[in-house]
Amino acid sequence: MSETTSVRPIRTFHPRRGRMSPRHAAAVAEMWPAYGLTVVDGDRTPLDLTVLFGRNAPRVLEIGFGMGDATAAMAAAEPARDFLAVEVHTPGIGNLLALVRDLGLANVRVAHGDAMQLVHRLAPESLDAVHVFFPDPWPKARHHKRRLIQPGNVALLRRAIRPGGLLRCATDWPEYAAAMAETLAADPGLIPAPPESVPPRAGRPVTRFERRGRAAGRPIADLLFQRI
Ligand SMILES: C[S@@+](CC[C@H](N)C(=O)[O-])C[C@H]1O[C@@H](n2cnc3c(N)ncnc32)[C@H](O)[C@@H]1O
Repeated sequence: MSETTSVRPIRTFHPRRGRMSPRHAAAVAEMWPAYGLTVVDGDRTPLDLTVLFGRNAPRVLEIGFGMGDATAAMAAAEPARDFLAVEVHTPGIGNLLALVRDLGLANVRVAHGDAMQLVHRLAPESLDAVHVFFPDPWPKARHHKRRLIQPGNVALLRRAIRPGGLLRCATDWPEYAAAMAETLAADPGLIPAPPESVPPRAGRPVTRFERRGRAAGRPIADLLFQRI
C-alpha cells in the first residue's frame, strides 16, 4: 500500500511540452510494461530494486538523462551494473526506451517523473553510484533553490549510496560547479573520491548537453564524491 505525503515539492526542472515521434511512441508502447516505472509525487512505497531488475547487481541511479544516449552507452559498456534512469522529459523517455530495445539492454529501467521523489523509495545504501550529469543550472539567484545539487537533496542521495559508492556530477556552468563543490564538500557523509579510485571521466560518455557547453566554449567540471 502506498504511503503518501501532500507537501508540494520545489521543482528542479523546467515544465516543457514534448512531442514524441512515432518511433518513440512505438518504443514506449512496446517497452513500458517491462522497463518503465511511473514516479508518483508523495509515493513513499519502498521500491525493491532486485525485483525491478530481476537480479541483484550494483545499481546506478542516473538523474536527468536527457535523451538517454549517454545512459545507453554506459549501460552497454557495463552489463554487470544496472541503471535506473529517471527523467521528466517525455521525448527522452521514448528515445531511451528505443535505444534499450534496439541495443537489447537488459540492465536499464526507465523512470518517468521527479528523481527527488523517487529517491525516497530507495532503501538506504542500495546504490553503487548516483550520476547527475549537466543538471539544469538555474543561473538566476532567485532560482538557485531549484538546483538539484543543494544540501537537502545531496543528503537524500547520499543516504541511498552504499559506503564507498560515488556521487558523480558534471556541469558546464562554472558558478554552479563552484556551488556544487562547496555543497558536496560540506555534506558530512561525503569525501572527495580518491583520484586513484576513479580515473577522471571513466565511464562517462560525452552527453548532449556537454557537447553544447563545449561548443559554447564553456569549461567542463567533473565532481566525484564518495560516501564514507
Ligand atoms: C540540462 S539537461 C541534461 C541532460 C543530460 N544529462 C545531458 O547531459 O545531456 C537536464 C535534464 O534533467 C532533467 N531533470 C531536472 N530535474 C529533474 C528531476 N528532479 N528528476 C528527473 N529529471 C530531472 C531535465 O528534464 C533535463 O532533461
